[in-house]
Amino acid sequence: MKKRRVKKGPILVLFLFVIIIVAIVIVLLLPKKNNLTNTTKNTDTKTETKKVSKEKKDDYTLREGEELIDKTKTNMHLTKYQGAYYVDGIMIVNKSYPLDSTYVPSEPYKEITSDYLYGPDYLDKTVMEKFISMKEAAKDAGYELKISSGYRSYKVQVDLYNNYAARDGKDAADTYSARAGYSEHQSGLCFDLNGTNANFLETPTGAWVNEHAADYGFILRFPKDKEGETGYNYEAWHFRYVGEELAKKLYDNGNWISLESYLGVDSKYE
Ligand code: DAL
Ligand code: ZN
Repeated sequence: MKKRRVKKGPILVLFLFVIIIVAIVIVLLLPKKNNLTNTTKNTDTKTETKKVSKEKKDDYTLREGEELIDKTKTNMHLTKYQGAYYVDGIMIVNKSYPLDSTYVPSEPYKEITSDYLYGPDYLDKTVMEKFISMKEAAKDAGYELKISSGYRSYKVQVDLYNNYAARDGKDAADTYSARAGYSEHQSGLCFDLNGTNANFLETPTGAWVNEHAADYGFILRFPKDKEGETGYNYEAWHFRYVGEELAKKLYDNGNWISLESYLGVDSKYE
């Protein structure tokens, strides 16, 4: 009897095809890397900063007129744009990165009509709108929020700092008050809540704010025991708008990561 010859070519091609399909399916089904935005974290700040910084994209699109100055310690892009410093588009104002003395919020909630004007109405528009939403949610929960200090012009900060320096000396004043040009209050992106009570976050109102601020894009800007990073004493009352995504990362389950540590920058006078 004549033996039937089996053609091996097509079988080999089919076999390879099946292998490739199986490989593609396995790759697609592999578990994705943790998205830190949506996970609850309980690691220490250093580990967290490392994890977060690994996620940074290596590209940053400069806005027209934005100047690239350097890469930060977390490999992000330090830039200068319209009188302010930014890291990957997040404004940074601290002892190392001042605002120009002429800087005013570009989109205030209400128009700024004089350099001397000072008050929460002159917060950045988005920030004020987010604050109003948070205030309403707090009210529904039975708490009252009030901005005790919002936008402060360069000139207002000159007087404020000079008064503190005359009262307590420059070294002491530098631990809690910014020199003119170095205050985040000039940006219109932050505010002090319900006075300046060091125990604010331990009060029922403060505890509510601490838990919910990030949902509205706010961070506790000067967290406890982070003086070496932020350059300032703990301020339980000072909140800064950075947007919900970043605020939720920095919340870190109540163990706030400092903005400086996340952006990889210092806060030191020259
Ligand atoms: N109290 C903060 C540091 C400021 O003066 O801006
Ligand atoms: Zn403040």
